[in-house]
Amino acid sequence: MSDLFFPKSDLVFPMSDTVRRVMPFVGPVSKNGSYGRYLLANIPVFVTLGMHCSPGRVKKNNLCFFFFWLCSRLFVTLYVEIRTKINCTIMTNKSALQKARAAYCPKLPVGLQGSVSVKEGAPTQSVSDQEEIQKLFPNTYGLPLVEFVPGEARTFAPMNVGVILSGGQAPGGHNVICGIFDGIKRLNPENRLFGFLLGPGGLVDHKYMELTADIIDEYRNTGGFDMIGSGRTKLEEESQFESGLKILNELNIKALVIVGGDASNTNACVLAEYYAAKKAGIQVIGCPKTIDGDLKNDQIETSFGFDTACKTYSELIGNIERDANSAKKYWHFIKLMGRSASHIALECALETQPNICLISEEIQQKGLTLDEIVADIASAVAARAAQGNNFGTVLIPEGLIEFIPAVKKLIAELNDVLSSEKYAQAQPEDRVAWLIGNLSAENSATLASLPKVFAEQLTGERDPHGNVQVSLIETEKLLSAMVAKKLAEMKQAGKYNGKFSALHHFFGYEGRCAAPSNFDADYCYSLGVSASQLIANGKTGYMAIVKNTTAPASEWVAGGVPITMMLNMERRNGQMKPVIRKALVELDGKPFKTFAANRDEWKLNTCFVYPGPIQYFGPSEVCDRTTVTLKLEQE
Ligand code: FBP
Repeated sequence: MSDLFFPKSDLVFPMSDTVRRVMPFVGPVSKNGSYGRYLLANIPVFVTLGMHCSPGRVKKNNLCFFFFWLCSRLFVTLYVEIRTKINCTIMTNKSALQKARAAYCPKLPVGLQGSVSVKEGAPTQSVSDQEEIQKLFPNTYGLPLVEFVPGEARTFAPMNVGVILSGGQAPGGHNVICGIFDGIKRLNPENRLFGFLLGPGGLVDHKYMELTADIIDEYRNTGGFDMIGSGRTKLEEESQFESGLKILNELNIKALVIVGGDASNTNACVLAEYYAAKKAGIQVIGCPKTIDGDLKNDQIETSFGFDTACKTYSELIGNIERDANSAKKYWHFIKLMGRSASHIALECALETQPNICLISEEIQQKGLTLDEIVADIASAVAARAAQGNNFGTVLIPEGLIEFIPAVKKLIAELNDVLSSEKYAQAQPEDRVAWLIGNLSAENSATLASLPKVFAEQLTGERDPHGNVQVSLIETEKLLSAMVAKKLAEMKQAGKYNGKFSALHHFFGYEGRCAAPSNFDADYCYSLGVSASQLIANGKTGYMAIVKNTTAPASEWVAGGVPITMMLNMERRNGQMKPVIRKALVELDGKPFKTFAANRDEWKLNTCFVYPGPIQYFGPSEVCDRTTVTLKLEQE
């Protein structure tokens, strides 16, 4: 409303403190303390007043008019002032840590600190299915690896760049954008950055905003994706690519950075190939994000967000462990996010040394049934109870159920049946009963064996891609209920003589938007600057990477990897598709082996470790430490 009454003006008049204090009573004052806007907006009023209130012409009706004008000015002024105050309160409502953190300068690798030059490696190959992938990506296949090293200063023509945040939130996303912004501004201060809103959908639907310095500064070193929002629209269709191209051309955008997980980066690669084949003059660059930690390989040491999310969960688990050890009366069943791989659960176990941590990949490899998993937990509870310890902690990866062979089979059939015409037509009131009667005998028996609540969760609504929403399935409650039942049987058989009282937790959303640790703040900022350099050097179909991340940040090595190098062919929705291979927990890798070597001791005894909160200020060994997983993997 104020802009309607008082149009924006670029005129800025310096204003003394006295005038500043007086002005609000006679007219609105712009936030930066100028009254150019006020003067411009009120010119018609001054002219009218001048005509009517000149000496000797002040009549009664003119006085009324003047009084009316004064009141309306006062009203509007008060409105503007109150609104500004409210806005200011919102904007300045920051914690002491937020304020201090805003001033943090992320550390950069030496290769990105000054002028940059590009060191190119030999041509690359995809991890497998080379022939098929080369055929699908004739323009972006086989490109060399790229490393950034200190170089000579160069000049760059001005350009516009776009950025998209795709998929689940991960700490550090804002710093990627800040890195891109600072990176392109350093190349040429005229460069501009546009953010597409609420994920890839923003590109398709032409929803965007320009990211200017004042916006960027508000979000430095902050958690969350709220600067431009995120979404899960899949960029797959030609019509989407074309719609994107239209807005990219309209905004004169030369390069697009897609910040996402394995699927989003696969899509970035497809988009890069499409625009390259069309000679559209648009580069597409990816950036490795996901708290799940499953976007890693020989080229990507870790996906951003994993570090902060795991440290946040580990703090909470440590607090719970300490509580358990103090009260000595509860078993805590803690489910941890991670759609499919168990990296988060494993890292948290290495950090906190719980009594039990289930690793989905191992359960799948051993072909364990739900009953066997339950029996194992129950025997640990009984063994601790025999020592008088009726408490403990169990970590459960979110994706567990999909790795239990029988449940996996059931889910596969459910995915088909739930999206079938037959099911839609039946519209059953009791869907579980209907499914039990209509599934294959084996899957029907598995579904019937599950507690009703859990069966309902498993048969509930699928995500936009037709998958079970594992974060909504309360595996922690299912397991503890089954353990309680098993213990009751053991008690009857005289094999258990303790008390079992369970509490449940799910840590997922608590960690996805946490303020990034120093590691993630530095890593993400470096990824953003790398992306800007890939763009400046004309690369497309690349993902920004930073390596040597267990060394001090100045020794990190920044560069880019052709996304085609990470592709292989996999069956998706009944079709063979090129995708980035998801990294599951390697059972012969150091992190799992370290866990496996210690878990028997942690199971029986109380060996809890309390990591405490992420530290942002203090000794480097406390503030800059990486995850245990990364450290072990890079040893
Ligand atoms: P990304 O793979 O997109 O990074 O998201 C991962 C994740 O956080 C999973 O751990 C979790 O299962 C899922 O997102 C939850 O999705 P939503 O945010 O849609 O509830």
